[in-house]
Amino acid sequence: MDKPPPPAKAAPPISLVVVAAIARNGALGRDNALPWRAPGDLRRFRGITWGRPLIMGRKTFQSIGGPLPGRETIVLTRNRRFFADARPEHVHVAENFDAALALAADLARAMGATEAILAGGAEIYRLGLPGARKLRLTLVDCAPEADAFFPEIDWSEWLETRRERAPRGAEDEFALEFIDYQRI
Ligand SMILES: NC(=O)c1ccc[n+]([C@@H]2O[C@H](COP(=O)([O-])OP(=O)(O)OC[C@H]3O[C@@H](n4cnc5c(N)ncnc54)[C@H](OP(=O)(O)O)[C@@H]3O)[C@@H](O)[C@H]2O)c1
Repeated sequence: MDKPPPPAKAAPPISLVVVAAIARNGALGRDNALPWRAPGDLRRFRGITWGRPLIMGRKTFQSIGGPLPGRETIVLTRNRRFFADARPEHVHVAENFDAALALAADLARAMGATEAILAGGAEIYRLGLPGARKLRLTLVDCAPEADAFFPEIDWSEWLETRRERAPRGAEDEFALEFIDYQRI
């Protein structure tokens, strides 16, 4: 009798990674924009997120203004008509967080990635933090007025795995520190 086929290999789990730049007072944004100029952080964001799916809120998507090269963007919105006229290539829409996670897992597998990125803003970090495996934060050395803040976090659940002072570029308005954490 023929041998039964080997069991199909389970797809590797996709980890959710929070990527955020946070000021000393927890600020993330003001008037739907970043309250600082920090090209050094944007370069890090590009490196960390390249080749991976991103989940972001509709407001953050609008502040960025369109798709990001080398990535697939999932936009969370309850507005079914948000992309009614035209949805840009490499942009997807999800009406709730579970749908966004399922889509991110499918896209990550199709891209050969093992991570999906939670790219903000404040509302989306709040939804995704409980399920995140890693935090990749940029600490921006300022405390600006803001209307979007990173959620409260229980640091006892997180282990710092890397901390690096970024070289301050001429265009960086404030000093930056890159800090990575892994869920314990
Ligand atoms: N510093 C950083 O690293 C960083 C990163 C990202 C963003 N930001 C800043 O953060 C600010 C934006 O953050 P925000 O909290 O105001 O907005 P946001 O999280 O970007 O987007 C909020 C929107 O997401 C949609 N949404 C939220 N929960 C949902 C759910 N459960 N199901 C479906 N849709 C859902 C809703 O869209 P609809 O209203 O269309 O339904 C909601 O209005 C900006 O200032 C931006 O510059 C900073």
